[in-house]
Amino acid sequence: MKYHVPVLLNESVNGLSIKPEGTYIDLTFGGGGHSKLILEKLNLNGKLFSFDTDDTAIKENSLANNNFHLIKSNFKFFDLHIKEKGISKVDGILADLGVSSHQIDNKKRGFSYMGDHKLDMRMSAQNEISAEQILNNYDEESLQNILYKYGDIKNSKIIAKEIVTYRNKKKIISNYDLLDAIRNISEKKLSYKFLSKLYQAIRIEVNDEINSLKEILKKSVEFLNSSGRLVVISYHSIEDRLVKNFINKSSFDSDFKKDLYGKKIEFFKRINKKPIVPSEEEKKNNSRSRSAKLRIGERL
Ligand SMILES: C[S@@+](CC[C@H](N)C(=O)[O-])C[C@H]1O[C@@H](n2cnc3c(N)ncnc32)[C@H](O)[C@@H]1O
Repeated sequence: MKYHVPVLLNESVNGLSIKPEGTYIDLTFGGGGHSKLILEKLNLNGKLFSFDTDDTAIKENSLANNNFHLIKSNFKFFDLHIKEKGISKVDGILADLGVSSHQIDNKKRGFSYMGDHKLDMRMSAQNEISAEQILNNYDEESLQNILYKYGDIKNSKIIAKEIVTYRNKKKIISNYDLLDAIRNISEKKLSYKFLSKLYQAIRIEVNDEINSLKEILKKSVEFLNSSGRLVVISYHSIEDRLVKNFINKSSFDSDFKKDLYGKKIEFFKRINKKPIVPSEEEKKNNSRSRSAKLRIGERL
């Protein structure tokens, strides 16, 4: 099975507007699809630093190329790693957020709502918290908040209650335990769409995805050269909203960031007004691309 099919590959790499001698960062190496295309556009003086927090991505997919440096780390620490390598500015930063197909398809990783396997969902084996710990230890209100905030689940209160009632009798260890815990929810509500939202919410919490995204957005401001590009592919509305507001308003909410005198602070010029989305053909060939949204900002 293929490790991962890159999404919006040409659109995102073209969005970096690559200078052959430039220095670039791919924050989400995964199967290396985007990194490979970036490397093809660099000359002998160009450099690419790629990051992934997942051991398997690093071990299985590294690319042999003198311009290439692959670093195993949470991307929120990218600044420390590149500074260590003597780099203080780069010409482009790409982030293709979320999980790879390999992480979802390999049932041992515990991301999927299909099959019977332990619930884990950690992108990095070094992550201290897993899905199992969250489901068994978070109090009802915290569970409800996560489901509502990260999964947009309307009946989050009922779901959280069902989870707590179940775990008081039997620990939730596997995927089937979780499905069993929520079996009383009406069948209509237990659609694939609902399950993917439920699993997405738990996954975001396990990997602290929203805070990590905020960190890289903030740090991109310092590390991008003037005219350097920030290119982000996101897969759900919480991420997309943060990226959109940060590129358009220099802030995580819909109000412009302002200085002490009330003047707007502008970090980026927005390159695309509307997000770029996969073509019908890409969606047909790769159904996992269907929710992707690409936004591009140019550092002012
Ligand atoms: C959608 S995949 C990227 C696929 C890649 N662009 C390709 O073409 O194969 C996302 C990757 O980012 C990694 N990742 C997600 N969050 C991360 C984080 N905070 N730090 C480092 N890597 C992360 C995941 O482990 C996964 O391998």
